[in-house]
Amino acid sequence: MQYHLAPLFCRPWTLNGITPRLIESHYEGNYGSALRRLNAITEELEALDPATTSAEVVNRLKRDEAAALNSTLLHELYFASLGGDGRAVPETMAAALVRDFGSTDRWRQEFIALANALAGGSGWVLLTYVPRDGRLINQSGADHGQNIAGGIPILAIDMYEHAYHIDFGANASAYVAAFMRNIDWAAVQGRYEDATRVAPPRPLEQKQFAGVPAMTVEEVKAMLDSGERVQIIDARPRHYTTRAQDIMDGAVWRDPERLDEWIGELSKTDPVVTYCVYGFHVGCETAIALRKAGFDARYMAGGHYAWKAIGGKVRLFE
Ligand SMILES: [Fe+2]
Repeated sequence: MQYHLAPLFCRPWTLNGITPRLIESHYEGNYGSALRRLNAITEELEALDPATTSAEVVNRLKRDEAAALNSTLLHELYFASLGGDGRAVPETMAAALVRDFGSTDRWRQEFIALANALAGGSGWVLLTYVPRDGRLINQSGADHGQNIAGGIPILAIDMYEHAYHIDFGANASAYVAAFMRNIDWAAVQGRYEDATRVAPPRPLEQKQFAGVPAMTVEEVKAMLDSGERVQIIDARPRHYTTRAQDIMDGAVWRDPERLDEWIGELSKTDPVVTYCVYGFHVGCETAIALRKAGFDARYMAGGHYAWKAIGGKVRLFE
């Protein structure tokens, strides 16, 4: 396949303190060469036979391809970040910056600091939306390879010297200040709104236990921290317990196969939380059995290992 060139998004003659000559050289020379490199690498990759080509060659080409593709995409975003007045942040965008950075000023200071830190080096600073958490984050990275997986960059400043030396010489901070004065916030907000429509990664679905109430490990921890009364049952299978070294603090182990023997110990008034090793099966079934018997029982999603993964307290399992 052939990657196609994107027309220049910003109107160079409207920029404040950044000359058309700089934008032209950047667009034609650097963006253009990234795209041409990308197409050349793509052609090479399509022509080779991965079954007979050495893994090193394929690997090198794939790395070059990723760098050229990222350079292409980031340059397109960079040119689409410019052309506004930089100061007037529209309402939706301002609210999102306040939500995730405390204030638009705080966002601005962090973004500028990251850009200035790349002066004399090369790299990008991006404002990126992360659908997983529905939040914005500033990210900085050397060269072209620092993307947050699944993140959607909505604003970019190019900190390679070629992005400013024609107009600013080595004065990177003057370039950063000029960039900030030219941000096209309406365009940034448009991209933000598009990004927020991207669904977060799909959560684990357990169709067979869809109706069983679950709690996250964070919810269970909050419940314990608040001193709420709760009965926590570690229902890891007996065969598993022979190699188990620890158990969630505050839990008691009960053999899920012998529910009839221990169900009488439980109080009907306090809620019950059950869990197993990873939260796929036994904890859910134990919760179902307890609910049938009239208990307010839920299973803890992710089980023992999710509890440990959030740094939940454990004690020695004996
Ligand atoms: Fe560049």
